[in-house]
Amino acid sequence: MKKTILVTGGLGYIGSHTVIELIENGYEVVIVDSLVNSKLEVLNRLETITGVRPTFYEYDVRDEEGMEKIFSNHDIFAVIHFAGLKSVGESVQKPQLYYDNNIGSTEVLLKKMKEHGVHNIVFSSSATVYGQPERMPLYETDPIGNVTNPYAETKVKIEEMLEEISKNDPEFNPVILRYFNPIGAHKSGLIGEDPNGIPNNLMPYITQVAVGKLPMLSVFGNDYPTPDGTCIRDYIHVVDLAHGHLLALKKLEEKPGRVIYNLGTGVGTSVLELINAFMEANHVNIPYKIVGRRPGDLPQSYANADKAFREMGFKTKYTIVDSCRDSWNWQKKNPKGFDK
Ligand code: NAD
Ligand code: UD1
Repeated sequence: MKKTILVTGGLGYIGSHTVIELIENGYEVVIVDSLVNSKLEVLNRLETITGVRPTFYEYDVRDEEGMEKIFSNHDIFAVIHFAGLKSVGESVQKPQLYYDNNIGSTEVLLKKMKEHGVHNIVFSSSATVYGQPERMPLYETDPIGNVTNPYAETKVKIEEMLEEISKNDPEFNPVILRYFNPIGAHKSGLIGEDPNGIPNNLMPYITQVAVGKLPMLSVFGNDYPTPDGTCIRDYIHVVDLAHGHLLALKKLEEKPGRVIYNLGTGVGTSVLELINAFMEANHVNIPYKIVGRRPGDLPQSYANADKAFREMGFKTKYTIVDSCRDSWNWQKKNPKGFDK
């Protein structure tokens, strides 16, 4: 019999790519999403790509009654918990919204899991939990906390909640995945990253400049202690990241208790390198200017991803050039994102 996976936030950027992997690998998928940062059109696109329309509930995960219905209606093997708000800047403006939405939804989810005897969860954490690290690359054993914005605080807090429960409940299996910087899109060009308003993140900004929606990219600082002076990040193709979730589900079969994995490539790429890779891969020009640093940016952030390889067989398949090609393919085919 097919195993059922509840995917919270399954219509979002990473969630939708993961849903494809799940369906293509024989899982039954149930999605819950409030649509606070996604569009219902994603469900149609998922059906076009996979030939299967996943069961969908439009609830906020904080809605206990709604979540009760889902857990009563389905025999869930594991939850993959993507649902959450993710804008660092917005979290500084509206901290309470971030605590309520991200931590509040996780509390309800964990309560329902306990009531219904569901022991398995994969949680979307972030490299942001490492705060202001002293050295690179980042290992799972490095200290977390010491973070400077409410978004990051919610990720640290939820990791702590999962740790606390697993201390008291040996049957509980939380797989914590700390993502580095996801970019790229499904090869079909039917789904991809569709931020509201002006993008905060680098790749969607680049693609919107490429498509003519924005006039020019601002590069935030070229005086960092890095080879070309611009910041270095570990960009990972979203389909590789999605594949990591499949491996996490396989890991859950071993009833591993609490485990933590970095999901990155282990390779750092600078802002200028990414811009150049995009221009070369796609033969488009990206006009840019160097401006001042963005407050709070780390000069470098990249993973040591050996643990995910050793313990789950996680290996990335796609290069930066693949990511640039796929991000552009998505944006070009959907200049207005999911708003046709
Ligand atoms: P996204 O905004 O595209 O997807 C999140 C989805 O969750 C959206 O569809 C949104 O509508 C939904 N959602 C939010 N709050 C909800 C709630 N209370 N109830 C129901 N649905 C809710 O973001 P994403 O990039 O796909 O990120 C997925 C997860 O991964 C998030 O938890 C994010 O913090 C984490 N993460 C993302 C990145 C990144 O760069 N994209 C990096 C590290 C970690
Ligand atoms: C952001 C989030 C971080 C989150 C991560 C992955 C912030 C401050 N941090 O970080 O919490 O975990 O995404 O989702 O938002 N850049 C430009 N011009 C732009 C946009 C970005 O030069 O218009 C530069 C940035 O200065 C940075 C790099 O590009 O050096 C990557 O930026 P971004 O995509 O926002 O990712 P992070 O900084 O890693």
